[in-house]
Parts: sequence; C-alpha cells; structure tokens
Amino acid sequence: MKNANTLHIPALIPRPKNITFTGETAPSNVVVTEQTVPGLANEAYRLLVTPEKILLMAASPAGFARAKSTLEQLRYSYGNQIPCMEISDAPAKPYRSFHIDCARHFIPMEELKKMIAMAAVFKFNKFHWHFSDDQGWRIESRAFPLLHETGARRGGDHFGSYVSDHEEWHYYTRDEVKDLVTFCEDLGIEIVPEVDLPGHVCAILAAYPELSCHGNPVDVQTRAGIFQDILCPGKEETFAFLEELLSDLLELFPGDYFHIGGDEAPKGQWETCPHCRRRMEEEGLSDLWQLQGYFNNRVAAFLKAKGKTVIAWNEAARGGNLDPDIILQLWNDGKAPGSGEIHTTGMEHLKRGGRLIMSTMMNAYCDYPYAFISLKKTYGLSLIPYGMESLTADEENRVLGTECLLWTEYIRDWEKLERLAWPRFVSGAELSWCGGAPDGYSDFKRRLTDLYPAFAAHGIGAEKPAGWDPGPVESARQLLEFKKNFPKDVLDDFKKNQKSI
Ligand code: ACM
Ligand code: ZN
Repeated sequence: MKNANTLHIPALIPRPKNITFTGETAPSNVVVTEQTVPGLANEAYRLLVTPEKILLMAASPAGFARAKSTLEQLRYSYGNQIPCMEISDAPAKPYRSFHIDCARHFIPMEELKKMIAMAAVFKFNKFHWHFSDDQGWRIESRAFPLLHETGARRGGDHFGSYVSDHEEWHYYTRDEVKDLVTFCEDLGIEIVPEVDLPGHVCAILAAYPELSCHGNPVDVQTRAGIFQDILCPGKEETFAFLEELLSDLLELFPGDYFHIGGDEAPKGQWETCPHCRRRMEEEGLSDLWQLQGYFNNRVAAFLKAKGKTVIAWNEAARGGNLDPDIILQLWNDGKAPGSGEIHTTGMEHLKRGGRLIMSTMMNAYCDYPYAFISLKKTYGLSLIPYGMESLTADEENRVLGTECLLWTEYIRDWEKLERLAWPRFVSGAELSWCGGAPDGYSDFKRRLTDLYPAFAAHGIGAEKPAGWDPGPVESARQLLEFKKNFPKDVLDDFKKNQKSI
C-alpha cells in the first residue's frame, strides 16, 4: 500500500497505521501529557504532536507503552525537533513475540533485561522464556528443589566443538523471576513461560529419574542434540509431579499464556515401556504420536482449568488428537530442511478451528548466521501456513502472530547474542503489528537504517547494516565458521536422533 505519504514516513518500526503531518514543528521543550481515552482497544494509541504539547492517548497501560515507544523512536529520528503530526495506531495481530533460550547457556538477568527493554521499543508484547531443556533447568523451584540443585548444574560445556569441563551451576531465584515479571509488565510485555515436555527433559530427569520409563540415572547434558530420555506418560506419578510443578510456577507467572513444549520427543523408550503400553490400551491410542497427543492434552487440560491459554510446538499435533484449543507454534512447517519431510500440521490445525503462531525455522531462527538467515529472510516470515494459498478472514484471525527465536547452543557471549538478535528480531515485530510487510523490504530497511541509533541508545550491539544481507564472500566465511559446530560425530548423532522422533 504505497501512498503519497510513504516517502515521508519517519523511521518508525512497526510502521504506524495512520500518520498525518500537520505542519510546523514542536519546540524542543514541548511538554508531554497523557490522556486516558476509554474507547480505544487494548494496545491502540493516538499520538498528537503540536507546537503546544505532545499528547499520548490510550485506554490501557499497554496502549500507553506503545505510544511511548513511538515517541522514543520519533526522538531518534528527529532529535528535539519533532514535526507536528497525528498518529493513530493499533496492532493487526495480538501475539508479537521474541524467544530466548536461557537453558543451553544461562543469560545473566541484566543482559536479559537489556534485551527485553530493546524489544519494548519495537512493540513486542510477549517474551517466550525457554528456561528448561536437556542442558539445564533454570528457575529455583519451591516444589521440587532438586530441579535447581541438580537440574541447573552440569559438568561442562561441549556444544559443537567447544570443550570446557568446568562445572556450571546457574539458575534464577524466585525473587529474580518476580522482579523480571514486574519489569516486563511495566513495558507492556507478558512473559510466556515454557516447560518443554515430554522431551528435552534430561535436566528434570537428572533430578527426578523415576519419571522416565526406565527410572535409571540421567545426566544434565553438556552437548547439543536430541536425547532419548523423556518423561513417561504411562506413570500417574509423572502427571502428579507436573501438576505440582506447574502450580508452583503459576504463582510466578501471572500472564494468560503457558507453553508446554512438545517438540523433538523421541519415542523409542515409550515403545517398549509396559506403563506406556497400558496407557495406550486404556485410552484407545493407535500409535506413539497419539500417546504424545494424550500427554500434551492432559497437561494442557490442567493448565486450562487454571485459566491459562496453552501453546505447544507443532509436533504435538502429529497424532491428530491434539486439543484444537491448544495454540500451535510452527517451527518446522512445510519442507523440513535436510530431511525432505513435509509438515502440514499448521494447515490442519487451522482447518480444525485451531490457532497458530508463525515461527518457521528458515525465517525466524535468529541464532543462525546472517549468511543462512538474512534480514530479508526474517522479514519474509509468512503469516500463512504451508499448503495454503490464502486465508479466510476467520482463519486470518486465528493466525495470532509471529515469534523470532534465539536458541543458545552456540552462544556464550552477549555481544554475539545481541548481534544475532538485532535487528532480525525487529522483522517479526513489524510483520505482526502490521499484519504483513506494509511497504516492502527496502522501505523496512530504510526505516531500520535511520533507526539504528536506537540500538546504541539501549547499549545493544546490533549487526551493522552491511551485515544484514551478506554477500557471497562474507556468507562463505560465516558458514565455514558455523560448520565448526557440527563435527562429523555430532552431525551423525543429530541425524540418528532426528530419525527416532
Ligand atoms: C525446536 O526448534 N525444536 C522448537
Ligand atoms: Zn513409559
């Protein structure tokens, strides 16, 4: 939707819905006032710049947070000489998320807050916090203290070709978590906690091994990969444990959403487990994918009864029996890189009346080098699942938004973390707020380039514009560097375990 105004659109991201320039410039000492306007939708806002004052109008704290982020961006563009204008703006999509994995490598709280404050400038409203995985459980647990005493501790760091045998022991205390929740709330951001289940649980099993099918000791992993030890859905104790664990976590996380994982759960141990076999017979489940559906549905039912809206990764729907009320987050929708498999669970879930979050790996995984996933690719993230040409208005409403992700297997320093995340994360924020790319990639890049000082102002070392879409020489260099994370034995192991899911 090019219009006459496009060239004059200031460096604002996401691009606001309506901007009208009204002439003149506000003086540098102009007063800023806020006015509550009850008729506006939750995150909608209006912003008026006049020679007399700057007026922010919204109906809710979230609306005022969005208005303030627009004003902050106007200041990066214009300094203290902001042209007079009227903006009225509201998001197309309710779910605008970024994800950080604090399990593979623990991110100090101050760094996490810096990343979140940066995200607020771009109007993100969800922080998907991945704090539990094979390589660490990262939150102090009142219900099950061995989670932070044992599950947060591992015997080194052997991700990729990195070798450290120093013991690592890191977790966030409950007080730190409460402080982070308040910090996020003040910025209009909800934390979406994830407890990844039934796979990616070696850290939980290291603390409570009786919850696996075999009950044998399990280590907190120090390598990347997919691990065979997962929770046993045949044992009632598993669900009793999870209900107590989740109840305890719900006290820390007051938001609407809860993510229950569901990705990459190898089912070899379920196949031969008498508890799992009995469960399948009793529940009339035809295969192991349905057993996973049963597992995820049961955990979701518990959370739904507590008022939560539940999210799961797309594999949870493969048995065809996933509760359609569970929001499906797509990460390997369509053609899975490497395996040649085609996944259409997104389309099927949408057709069954379900809701989706779009975060396909080849667009949204910002831990990959720019050579692999350029800014142009992140900005190309589709709001339509694989297999569909277009959506009805009702289907479009059930695509709730996007998420950009940072997995941290190969991220040990925060300069790298910041450079990988920014500015690629910004793509998802704009696509969700605008419901697509409003004026195309080059206009997005123009605004992003003008807005570049925003990163330094927040102490964030973003990738420089020259690196956003690297050319062949730089790409070759980055890919060579990235490949060092995958020596042959690691790659073979990955492939073998991928097959066993
Ligand atoms: C995932 O990348 N396993 C969600
Ligand atoms: Zn079992």
